[in-house]
Amino acid sequence: MSDPDAPWWKTAVLYQIYPRSFADSNADGNGDIGGILDHLDHLEWLGVDGIWLSPVTVSPNADWGYDVADFCAMQPDLGTMDELDLLVARAGQLGIRVLLDLVPNHTSEQHPWFVDSRSGRASPRRDWYVWADPGPEGTPPNNWVSSFGGPAWTLDATTGQYYLHNHLSEQPDLNWWNDDVRLAFDAIMRFWLDRGVAGFRIDVCNIIIKDAELRDNPPATEDDDFEAQLFGQRPVYNGNRPEVHDVIRRWRRLTDHYDPPRVLIGETPVKIDALAAYYGQGHDELHLAFNFPFITAPFEAHALRRIVEDTEALLPAGAWPAWTGSNHDMARLASRWAGGEVPKIRAALLMLLCLRGTPVLYQGDEIGLADVPVAHDDMRDPLGVRYFPAYAGRDAMRTPMPWRAGPGGGFTEAGVRPWLPLGDTEGNVESQRSDPGSTLTFTRELIALRRRTPDLQTGVYRSLAAPDGAWAWRRGDHVLVLLNLSDGDVTLGGMEGLEGMEGSVLIGTDRRRGGEELSGPVGLRGWEGLVIETR
Ligand code: NOJ
Repeated sequence: MSDPDAPWWKTAVLYQIYPRSFADSNADGNGDIGGILDHLDHLEWLGVDGIWLSPVTVSPNADWGYDVADFCAMQPDLGTMDELDLLVARAGQLGIRVLLDLVPNHTSEQHPWFVDSRSGRASPRRDWYVWADPGPEGTPPNNWVSSFGGPAWTLDATTGQYYLHNHLSEQPDLNWWNDDVRLAFDAIMRFWLDRGVAGFRIDVCNIIIKDAELRDNPPATEDDDFEAQLFGQRPVYNGNRPEVHDVIRRWRRLTDHYDPPRVLIGETPVKIDALAAYYGQGHDELHLAFNFPFITAPFEAHALRRIVEDTEALLPAGAWPAWTGSNHDMARLASRWAGGEVPKIRAALLMLLCLRGTPVLYQGDEIGLADVPVAHDDMRDPLGVRYFPAYAGRDAMRTPMPWRAGPGGGFTEAGVRPWLPLGDTEGNVESQRSDPGSTLTFTRELIALRRRTPDLQTGVYRSLAAPDGAWAWRRGDHVLVLLNLSDGDVTLGGMEGLEGMEGSVLIGTDRRRGGEELSGPVGLRGWEGLVIETR
């Protein structure tokens, strides 16, 4: 049975916008809020219920908006506060809610708080950041490494202490043990929520609290994951501390005062047992938490099914999963999972939109947009610039949306150089919109199907037996999802839960199968998926 009282964010399809790359309304090569306003019709037509915007606040852009210099003012080349208010209002009229990105772990080194903090040991804001004396022989205070590589500490020559930064040295970490920092962020959240913003995606919310004693991280072992082995240590003390949950509960209490209900979506790059803890008791911490084991899994039935089952088993009662295959940091699903192959892209979209939980698409997923390789000279991501060729950074997944064919691709005007290269515009929005067989049409119809099918929105998830390479699950009482994530043909049926199956196809990755009546075993070609209404 579906739950008619489910809050909007449980039945929603969400969509991430990377504003600088969505649409450029003033021909300066940068996407902006005006561009989002210009394309609200696309979002409404697609059927999304909410958008979350990567940071639009003031930033010197050492990390493209994730180094915030003013949490309550707009970055001028992205737009004005009036435009943002207009976006919230117009989107709201179309039934689309607007969420912002909140970056509480760190600020820009140019934020007035940090300028003040580093001005002297007696600064009233000294304790707003994590400062520590050098170790013996002037070394950093402990062994922590930044998730962007290198030591997580930089020496401030003026005051003779090191400050902590879990990312770039231009992104000093705030000290979340300090009550004034907590109060400052309460005010920031209220500032936006009072303007009608529907909630926040919260940047690396798992690491905001650090070990109070700044203990060394333990060395990684060969049993640790790739990242821990790469950095040579387990991130036990520079984040993921139990006290982080106090802060998240505080944010939840603050958010719960708002009506209509607001939503907190955490960026939580942790394993599933830790992910579950960010939901607290199921109603007192994050509403949604991004599932990194899922997004980083290979596109294989066994691996993905296992993660979904573990998530279903470990989340507390009342908690609601979130499923995403792409974002501005990870390769787009069309490339990472699908290698650019259309049948695989459609299988991935069908999977995302048919699991129990809130699907979050990334701009371009709906047209099967693949990553666009960016030459070293054109790179803008500090990580690509720093680590090329060992690592090409995150520009490839941040390239502009191709709205139509031709110079500028509808992203910007012909003759204007976009901030990142546009890539091939062949599979653009305009051409796919008028093609009933396109990936865009498929995505739109999947979203519409989800909206009119309560079992797909809120029905329980139950795995069914399936042959190798395939994955089958039930949603609620009447929906069956069959997915073949392998090259070969498979036949499903005759197994527990699928014996004597009778039904009709609601949608298939092969569009010709829509409406097909089924009775008994069902054959699927390689990378084919079907959503079935059973009788
Ligand atoms: C995660 C964000 O998604 C990423 O883009 C950013 O570089 C880091 N957090 C630091 O804010």
